[in-house]
Amino acid sequence: MLGISFSSLFRRFSAILCGVVAMVFLTNISIDNVYAEDSTMVEQTLTQACIDQPYSGTMHKSSEADLALEVEKDCLVQNGREWYDRRCSFCHGGQGKGGKGPCLTCGKFAYSANSNMAILTTISIGITNKSVGGAMGAFGTTISGMDILSVVAYLRSEEVRRIASGEIKDPYIKEEIMVFPE
Ligand code: HEC
Repeated sequence: MLGISFSSLFRRFSAILCGVVAMVFLTNISIDNVYAEDSTMVEQTLTQACIDQPYSGTMHKSSEADLALEVEKDCLVQNGREWYDRRCSFCHGGQGKGGKGPCLTCGKFAYSANSNMAILTTISIGITNKSVGGAMGAFGTTISGMDILSVVAYLRSEEVRRIASGEIKDPYIKEEIMVFPE
């Protein structure tokens, strides 16, 4: 991500997210499944020191235009892991391997596009449309944008690790093109 800093990306993301949330409310889609049980943000959150920490590792993004994530930054990934374990593992299983909810570290997404930006948006606004599931609430009101971003970084770091270790088949390898002899 030459020249584009983490925080400027986040500012851009916040603007988009605000737009999405506003659209949801304006179009009067009811968010009836908001996780309101702890509406005050937990103190444990991504620190400024972590955000500012210089990074020279690999950036994860699914396309040129995608939100780039610092998936090898320990403090970011650790923060995401803690939030994930508290709020998501109940349905999505340990390490995002799936449970009541789908696998989130298999490199395949059925409800969301497979981009960091789309996953982040899904977590923020939930999947409330009953025709496509409707079993997952919105987290954008109870988890800060930066913390949700760290959750996505954690999920991607797990995905990368699981592919590298052979734990899951690499879903990104393109099928070989079959050439038929004349
Ligand atoms: C109450 C159970 C529950 C909790 C808690 C939950 N989810 Fe989900 N999630 C689901 C279900 C079920 C789906 C599948 C869509 C549906 O049925 O609504 C889903 C779908 C998703 C998807 C889309 C997956 C795809 O294949 O496209 C993402 C991403 C996701 N959840 C992330 C999270 C994260 C991150 C958290 C924690 C912050 C979380 N979920 C918490 C139940 C849950």
